[in-house]
Amino acid sequence: MAESLTIAAGTKEERYQSLLPQIEALIAGETDRTANLANVAAALRQAFGFFWVGFYLVNDHQLVLGPFQGPIACTRIPFGKGVCGTSWKEARTIVVPDVEQFPGHIACSSDARSEIVVPGFHEGAVVLVLDVDSDRLNDFDEVDARYLEKLMRSVEATLG
Ligand code: SME
Repeated sequence: MAESLTIAAGTKEERYQSLLPQIEALIAGETDRTANLANVAAALRQAFGFFWVGFYLVNDHQLVLGPFQGPIACTRIPFGKGVCGTSWKEARTIVVPDVEQFPGHIACSSDARSEIVVPGFHEGAVVLVLDVDSDRLNDFDEVDARYLEKLMRSVEATLG
């Protein structure tokens, strides 16, 4: 198991290309969901310095806060509510360049300015979402979407 991350300097794409195999190696040998989600959140925050990185898990028809890195956050999000609940409902990645322009955005912190939410699936159903928040406007684009979706495929593979 990797004990430290080596974060390549370079473009965002190059950093994802360097980071993803390291995260995959980190989680591939571990079957515990909490341990893996905690390490994924930590690795993403360590690599990119995001304001908040974490998971919400589908539980009893709500999203419930899971492992995360960053300031304390809302614990429960209903289906279809906020960016996370919308990503769950629509079963797709949502990039929000300016959270103030997203109707129904749930502000866990007033410092969050832009956001990306990526769903993870088990047997075709959304079972969790990855939420990444930035304190800068317009911090996420299709590069983040592509690599974070790829990462979620690896996370799904460890969920069992
Ligand atoms: N902003 C999210 C809520 C979760 S926090 O940002 C950590 C949303 O609108 O779903």
